[in-house]
Amino acid sequence: MRTTLFLSVSIDGFIADKEGIPRFPEGAWQDWCALVNDADNVIAGRSSFEQLKDDAMASALNPKHKIVLSSRDIDLADSGWQHARSPSEALAILKKAGVDEAIVGGGRAVAHSFMREKRVDHIVIDLQPVAFGVGTPVFGEVLDLTQLKRLDSQPLNESALRLRYEVLREEK
Ligand SMILES: NC(=O)c1ccc[n+]([C@@H]2O[C@H](COP(=O)([O-])OP(=O)(O)OC[C@H]3O[C@@H](n4cnc5c(N)ncnc54)[C@H](OP(=O)(O)O)[C@@H]3O)[C@@H](O)[C@H]2O)c1
Repeated sequence: MRTTLFLSVSIDGFIADKEGIPRFPEGAWQDWCALVNDADNVIAGRSSFEQLKDDAMASALNPKHKIVLSSRDIDLADSGWQHARSPSEALAILKKAGVDEAIVGGGRAVAHSFMREKRVDHIVIDLQPVAFGVGTPVFGEVLDLTQLKRLDSQPLNESALRLRYEVLREEK
């Protein structure tokens, strides 16, 4: 199973604006959901899950497997989301379910966790035509030097671009 980190990003490197809202141009959320729905799974951090759960936008996001990462005891009741306490537990659930490509959908803390644990094989960035100036950076904390190889680039509309990179591993 491959693990892909997938984020919409402003041209100045933010995943949300200064209010913590991913206020990207129209169509960005639908494009983001289309990839997640195709892959049929998503892993999200507790904060991102909470931001989304009572929002009308959630109706566009309907993969079969939806996992919330949290170190706490959380009650997901009838939400349709499953709980994992660590990146490895989330990936084990998806692997067991027969998923080919696990999608790590953010936010910043989750992106950083998966990168720090060297769990990410591909990074897909939807580069959105907006600059937030101030906001939530993609990773937030310092990363180890990471070399990437571009595998694909595809226009999503007149202004946005989807980029797929492979994370290159150091030869042992
Ligand atoms: N542009 C995009 O594509 C995109 C996508 C998603 C989200 N976002 C934005 O990202 C922002 C949220 O990012 P964020 O960094 O504040 O929060 P987040 O990554 O969504 O969630 C953080 C929480 O996830 C849990 N978590 C993270 N790593 C973990 C690990 N290794 N093991 C166990 N639990 C772990 C922790 O929950 P506990 O505290 O419960 O342990 C942590 O407090 C929002 O503004 C959202 O809109 C943007």
